[in-house]
Amino acid sequence: MNIILLIHGPNLNFLGRRDPKHYGDITLPKLEMLVKKEAKKYGCVVKCFQSNHEGELIDYIQKNAPSAKGIIINPGAFTHYSFALHDALLDAEMAAVEVHLSSISKRESWRKTSVTAPACIGQISGKKEKSYLEALALLAKKIKL
Ligand code: DQA
Repeated sequence: MNIILLIHGPNLNFLGRRDPKHYGDITLPKLEMLVKKEAKKYGCVVKCFQSNHEGELIDYIQKNAPSAKGIIINPGAFTHYSFALHDALLDAEMAAVEVHLSSISKRESWRKTSVTAPACIGQISGKKEKSYLEALALLAKKIKL
């Protein structure tokens, strides 16, 4: 069984209530259902996790990466400053794709930098929920699902 970890960082549990201009109006459960449905096309299973806490995200990666094939992660604001999350992704030693609903390169200057992306095989941003479907396609190509 090919398992893909779908990991969401802080405040993403509030999707549907956050600014729709940046994040659209999809809720987190709906977004997860969308990715799970798409993943069936690639014959893989998606395991989802969200936390507002950096350490919990790191614990989850450490515990679950050994049984997974790849990671799709939206680190939320941790994108911009969590070197610890960067290291956890690197230590997972597997293909990870970073996703963002909004266009981080077109927003405030502090959002333009991602410290986590260098630990990933790619970053897809600015396409709202479609970012996740593209991330899955990229991952599937890379790990030959
Ligand atoms: C986000 C972009 C981040 O800058 C922000 O802190 C988020 C969401 C996105 O998906 O566009 O929480 O990762």
